[in-house]
Amino acid sequence: MKFITILGARPQFIKAAPVSRELRKHHTEQIVHTGQHYDQNMSDIFFEELNIPTPDFNLEIGSSSHGKQTGRMLERIEEILLSETPDYVLVYGDTNSTLAGALAACKLHIPVVHVEAGLRSFNKQMPEEINRIMTDHVSEYLFCPTQTAVKNLENENVNAKIINVGDVMYDAVEYNRQLAESQSDILKKQQIEANSYHLITVHRAENTDDPTKLANILQAFAQIEEIKVWPLHPRTKNKISDYGLDLSSIQNLKIIEPVGYLDMLKLETNAKKILTDSGGVQKEAYFVQVPCVTMREQTEWVETLEDEANTLVGTDTAEIVRAVLKEVKPSYKPYFGSANAAEKIVGKLK
Ligand code: UD1
Ligand code: UDP
Repeated sequence: MKFITILGARPQFIKAAPVSRELRKHHTEQIVHTGQHYDQNMSDIFFEELNIPTPDFNLEIGSSSHGKQTGRMLERIEEILLSETPDYVLVYGDTNSTLAGALAACKLHIPVVHVEAGLRSFNKQMPEEINRIMTDHVSEYLFCPTQTAVKNLENENVNAKIINVGDVMYDAVEYNRQLAESQSDILKKQQIEANSYHLITVHRAENTDDPTKLANILQAFAQIEEIKVWPLHPRTKNKISDYGLDLSSIQNLKIIEPVGYLDMLKLETNAKKILTDSGGVQKEAYFVQVPCVTMREQTEWVETLEDEANTLVGTDTAEIVRAVLKEVKPSYKPYFGSANAAEKIVGKLK
């Protein structure tokens, strides 16, 4: 069978790596890169490091408003689907690239396979929530990472094949963990010791597009004395500059460019705590068993909240600081499967 996989943003490259590897053992796959992420360290680095096959098509759509970006993708993806006539279209997660791929395919009656289906924050202010709901409701196969995701879909009476296969990001972590430990020299490069720093990521629109929230978050970082390492997402970098916010007065803050996956895994594994608003990073913190502080009001990954493995703090300065300083001793459970999600997905598709 012939699959066309639609990718566009950093977390999708990481999710696709294990699935593409497995899929190509049995099927034909073509990759369409929408170009939603395009900087070398937001895109190419992952294809190189994770041996993801070079995209057959790069649409080079780039950044713009939601409507423009999604619309342009839709138009171009439709052309490709019409000329390539795949049996299935495979999409990941909840970005604008996911929605464009799913919409283009379903209107042409090509069955859509959605990996990482069923996640909900129940906050429709998030662009990702709209993308997920729409994609889930037009897909034929919904591969869920958790039982909670299955329940969410059942509650919405989604008419599709709903299967819990575990989390493909767990596959990626397990596959690359040793490699990251032995090959990444990021700690040396940044002159930091294992367990001596907190790792930060911030990029959610709800945080970065609100100057008060972003300022509150920075205020919290200023009140945390320990070393903080922060690979800065381009969106956040732009917003900090637009709002004229000052990072130079925050002591012990190491701002670095976005890093590749192996460096990121090494930074995560060796951190004291991880402070984030990322979906993927919350899960990775759980997989590598490093306590997480999530600067959001809701999380889709509710399992991680059990036993204080992850603490939801929103963007209140004092709450963030309190959670980072609090000592926690979580235990971790196998909510995300057994790191063989890709194999299960391809097995089901066979
Ligand atoms: C997107 C996804 C989000 C996901 C995130 C992963 C949507 C609606 N959002 O958010 O769900 O969590 O990717 O990182 O699909 N930029 C660059 N270089 C790049 C890419 C982006 O400079 O290679 C800058 C541009 O200024 C752009 C901004 O980042 O306007 C935002 O990029 P965009 O892809 O629109 O959204 P993300 O915030 O990255
Ligand atoms: N990531 C990375 N380098 C970075 C920051 C994140 O490789 O500098 C990886 C991270 O390990 C995870 C994924 O990117 O696998 C998460 O993507 P992101 O936070 O951009 O998006 P989200 O998961 O919130 O959609």
